[in-house]
Amino acid sequence: MKRVLFALAALAAVSAPAMADEALAKAKNCMACHAVDKKLVGPAYKDVAKKYAGDAKAADMLAAKIQKGGSGVWGAVPMPANPQVNDAEAKKLAAWVLSLK
Ligand code: HEC
Repeated sequence: MKRVLFALAALAAVSAPAMADEALAKAKNCMACHAVDKKLVGPAYKDVAKKYAGDAKAADMLAAKIQKGGSGVWGAVPMPANPQVNDAEAKKLAAWVLSLK
């Protein structure tokens, strides 16, 4: 029984934050332009994760871009600023995007 509980706790630890962050992305309207695994108006989050895999500066750079918006990386369409996202949320969202594979 103990082992089962441990397995469940481990599972919850792995999957719960990811789900919470996807809910945050939905709540902040990110999913209006993005999907995890296909391109909409903006790039698929999995493609973003692939592009910056191994880039230690990516989390900070993306957190700033999520808040301020930006253009020129994925095509002609710019991402508008997202003033509804605060610093902590931007970091969380950037870390979540980079964790997708
Ligand atoms: C109005 C549409 C729109 C909304 C809303 C939007 N994005 Fe984007 N996003 C884009 C576009 C378009 C790009 C590509 C910009 C570029 O080519 O530089 C992009 C790029 C990105 C990138 C990659 C940036 C890079 O430099 O590689 C990330 C990460 C991202 N968005 C996260 C978010 C998050 C998190 C939110 C919610 C707070 C969000 N986006 C809301 C359209 C949007």
